[in-house]
Amino acid sequence: MAFRRTEHHRGRRVLATLLFLLAPAAAAEPDRFSASELERIASHGPWPTAWMRDPGNRVSANPAAVHLGYRLFFEPRLSANGRVACATCHDPARGFQDGRATARGLTDGVRNTPGLFDVRQQRWFGWDGGHDNLWSASLRPILDQGEMGGSAGRTAHVLRGSAALACHYRQAFGKAPTAGDSDLLVNVAKAIASWQETLLSPPAPFDHFRDALERKDVAAAAAYPAAARRGLKIFLGRGQCATCHAGPNFTNGEFGDIGVPFFIKPAGVDPGRQGGIKRLLANPWNLLGAYNDDATGGNTTGTKFVRPEHRNFGEFKVPTLRNLTLTAPYMHNGSLATLRDVVRHYSDLDEDRLHADGERILRPLNLSEAENADLVAFLESLSPATPLPPPVVPAPVPACRAP
Ligand code: HEC
Ligand code: HEC
Repeated sequence: MAFRRTEHHRGRRVLATLLFLLAPAAAAEPDRFSASELERIASHGPWPTAWMRDPGNRVSANPAAVHLGYRLFFEPRLSANGRVACATCHDPARGFQDGRATARGLTDGVRNTPGLFDVRQQRWFGWDGGHDNLWSASLRPILDQGEMGGSAGRTAHVLRGSAALACHYRQAFGKAPTAGDSDLLVNVAKAIASWQETLLSPPAPFDHFRDALERKDVAAAAAYPAAARRGLKIFLGRGQCATCHAGPNFTNGEFGDIGVPFFIKPAGVDPGRQGGIKRLLANPWNLLGAYNDDATGGNTTGTKFVRPEHRNFGEFKVPTLRNLTLTAPYMHNGSLATLRDVVRHYSDLDEDRLHADGERILRPLNLSEAENADLVAFLESLSPATPLPPPVVPAPVPACRAP
């Protein structure tokens, strides 16, 4: 059960309450933190987190594959009409998202385009967790009839038709792109995944505050605005937000139901996680299939045991809360335009809308306008303070440089 509170959690809540009562200074001054709050703040870092290359993708962290993947990410010829690239929807200038409520490729989609910063941290991919690895999540849009409408044959043609792409392919995979089209398609997706693994967001004002607290550097910590501190208190305490938005990437990697309507116009419903698990298990490119490069099979446990259950209906992935100022609108269907709208959603929560069973975590918070603004200020402090430079173009490997 993804969100059932553990005994451990309950114990920590009791401890938190005790510390709060024992710490009159923290209680009296709304922007001071108790020992338990400090411990929980520390758990949201350090940033960036340590990472190990993906064992399921043999070209993960391979420089030639990173360069190949970068070029293919911006390559519209992979699509049926020659006009849709990954970057059409995942725009680098918008945190690799499109600013639209729901995506538009060859046709209109029903889901919001997620940003791709820090995507390598994820455990499940897609709002419904329909993929268990980054490369199969990168293969899906190439073939999806509504997104790029491509094919293995078209992809192989683009790759073989360019001396530069073929060279990078050879450097990455150790042989020329002469394999069958469907093998090439998988390798292309692995290269695109290896480029996306390099997309990391820089530390945000919250990270500097967190690190300053850890160093007990009072002067540096003072730079963090009072409104964001008050919002952080609500986030950790009354809001219970960190139960789901946990850890350095502000997600527990699981799925939940927060009462966002799941109806699709003109008629229909988005089954969310329940449909995602069915798609995952039917997918020939999941980690149980022949293309997983991890010979130990150590990365298959999650997929082996996951089964669609009634409670998964209408659950969606708990998204990261980093870079939110770049990635409006919000939620799986882009139905909330601003962070103010999101906070109001949690504040005025309609409990009748919650349909997943299990223990309830969410209650209407009934925040005042000032508290709403504080929580928004905190959420904004998880985004970079200054505009991000365009992504670094990965250097081509020397053997493939044009003479
Ligand atoms: C038409 C717009 C569109 C195009 C083109 C597109 N995507 Fe996406 N992408 C989306 C949407 C919408 C989702 C969410 C899908 C879902 O939840 O089912 C998504 C999800 C993803 C995810 C999962 C991210 C996460 O946080 O779970 C990855 C990775 C991804 N896309 C990579 C790519 C790559 C690589 C390409 C090019 C090969 C691409 N996308 C092309 C719209 C697009
Ligand atoms: C029960 C787990 C849970 C709790 C508790 C929770 N969230 Fe969420 N949050 C989610 C899920 C799941 C989604 C995505 C829902 C969807 O798209 O239908 C989400 C979405 C969001 C988003 C939109 C992000 C995006 O990129 O679209 C924000 C912002 C957010 N939550 C902030 C908060 C805040 C602030 C709190 C505390 C008041 C909170 N959450 C409490 C699970 C939770």
